[in-house]
Amino acid sequence: MASSTPLALRAGIVAFSAALLASCAVPSGGANPPPPSPPPVAADFGVEARIRAIVAGMTLEQKVGQITQPDIRSIKPDEVRQYYIGSILNGGGAWPDNNKKASVNDWLKLSDAYYRASMATDMAVKIPVIWGTDAVHGHNNVFGATLFPHNIGFGAARDPALLERIGRATAAQVRATGITWAFAPTLAVVQNPRWGRTYESYSADPALVRSYGEAMTRGLQGRLGSPDSVLATAKHWIGDGGTFHGVDQGETRTTEADLFARHGQGYYGALAAGVQTVMVSYSSFTDTATGKVWGKMHGNQHLISGELKQRLRFDGLVVSDWNGIEQVPGCRKDHCPQAINAGIDLAMVPDDWKAFIANTVADVRAGRIPMQRIDDAVTRILRVKFRSGLFEASPATGPRPDPSVMNSDAVRELSREAVRKSLVLLKNDRNVLPLKRTGRILVVGKGADSLPMQAGGWSLTWQGDNTVTADYPNADTLLSALRKELGRANVDYSVDGRGVNPRRYSAIVMVAAEKPYAEMKGDIVFPAPLRHSARHPADLAALNRVSGKGVPVVTMLFSGRPVPANDLINRSDAFVAAWLPGTEGLGLTDMLLAGRAGGPRFDFTGRLPFDWPAADCLAANGPFQFRLGFGLTLGTKTKTPRLPVARQPVACPADSL
Ligand code: GLC
Repeated sequence: MASSTPLALRAGIVAFSAALLASCAVPSGGANPPPPSPPPVAADFGVEARIRAIVAGMTLEQKVGQITQPDIRSIKPDEVRQYYIGSILNGGGAWPDNNKKASVNDWLKLSDAYYRASMATDMAVKIPVIWGTDAVHGHNNVFGATLFPHNIGFGAARDPALLERIGRATAAQVRATGITWAFAPTLAVVQNPRWGRTYESYSADPALVRSYGEAMTRGLQGRLGSPDSVLATAKHWIGDGGTFHGVDQGETRTTEADLFARHGQGYYGALAAGVQTVMVSYSSFTDTATGKVWGKMHGNQHLISGELKQRLRFDGLVVSDWNGIEQVPGCRKDHCPQAINAGIDLAMVPDDWKAFIANTVADVRAGRIPMQRIDDAVTRILRVKFRSGLFEASPATGPRPDPSVMNSDAVRELSREAVRKSLVLLKNDRNVLPLKRTGRILVVGKGADSLPMQAGGWSLTWQGDNTVTADYPNADTLLSALRKELGRANVDYSVDGRGVNPRRYSAIVMVAAEKPYAEMKGDIVFPAPLRHSARHPADLAALNRVSGKGVPVVTMLFSGRPVPANDLINRSDAFVAAWLPGTEGLGLTDMLLAGRAGGPRFDFTGRLPFDWPAADCLAANGPFQFRLGFGLTLGTKTKTPRLPVARQPVACPADSL
């Protein structure tokens, strides 16, 4: 472990980290761990009999319509009736009438229109449609909604009870819009910060992810079938966070034992909490113990039907990812018998759903898909719909939470608490934190006044792009929060540190930040160096202009992953990893500013959910600047020596991660 942390502190860190790594070491592999027992959601024999009768009365077209999930941008409500559609989704950036600022009522109206259309078919027994949405840090597609920190911040908080409360609040927001299914939590156990979805992961610690899979599932689902419950989704099955070079939708090369003992731990938690849906991963699996190249997960019958459904006794529904079936060799967006035969019950076919229905009906008629497999898929979908209470009433007109749950004071306070608990203090020389409330502060950096950079991807849009701070009316950037706390006259702002005299201020608050991204667009593609300032040089340039002037500098990093930042840390007196905190900027100032009496209002409790790289390129054993589990409190005395920084960012060697 290459580190230049002070000797005394280093000894403590090494001891602490070694203990922690031992504790979060992967549970003993061998045969894959047993399923949860007894099953958390008992079979209801009356419902099962009703399901058998409904399926027996359905035509093939009705069955295939039931296993098809289009995106709302490509299907009108009456087509749900016409094609017997079982489910719809709104992908990131899909809103009612394609209106980014659609109101809660607009969402409710559309939900009710789809529901009523599904109940107007000519079927003997009408089957309600179910709507799924990516509510991954609050109901993030909805204008005005309070956004919670992304999952990586919860990993730092190490607080399953908090996460369950977040799940309850998210469920209320989702139900308030007439939707009953959230595509969350992501249970990836990320091994390489190059991955653009690192921030959707809680941690590299399988045990923490397991506790969180259980907590978030309980939070979202609450009491299944109640008006404030939404279905959770354990995703993405299995091994999404373990791909080679962290390539999104890439190849996970490990043993099957490790796949379950490391990457599968979140699913044990979610299954124990009665999760009703599982989404399949885009990634592929190569078994390094046998050399078998299993290929894309969407075609993996052994891991979907064999392991998840039969051995782990999962009796809910398995949904594909967005056009995920097309990645199976020989398949297309609109045609993939292999995926259905592998065990996928519901096909997320956002656009080409009409052709998918026709091709799948033809597959069954030609014997390429056994009718028994279709019947099993429909049975699972109906079972989940019965358990979710959908048959009782339209989720848009039946009992549901008050729309104020989107951004009430209570929800904002909950998110503000989560922000506080998510922050990790990595440096605090001369105890510059907390900052006194007297004097004047200069704020620097684009990210200091950018809600899109503060919230990250999956915020109003898929990538979190094409939005501006004004698109978040009920939110505070770090800058607006500081001005609320200290008064506008006491807080100046410079986006780049040009044309200001730092010596006129009592402290400098610098924000370094990544631009928002999601999925593959966030990958740091090998062999590019991981260093933050290699991708965002303006942050280092701004920090160079305002640091070293005899005025304390506090740097806050908004990032979706741990990144080498020794060049920024060296120029800062205090350094806070803030991840992607969401809309509640006051949670940030709670930790940066002292109370009126001059002492701290809250102490830092966050701990790193991942190892923190020390250099531009990572190998399996480092070098790490800080280890998973590290985090300072305000009482820790530090005098951090200059941390090692290579002169120029370099492309990474072939044997690095
Ligand atoms: C995306 C993601 C998945 C999400 C789905 C629907 O590509 O991989 O996590 O739930 O599509 O938006």
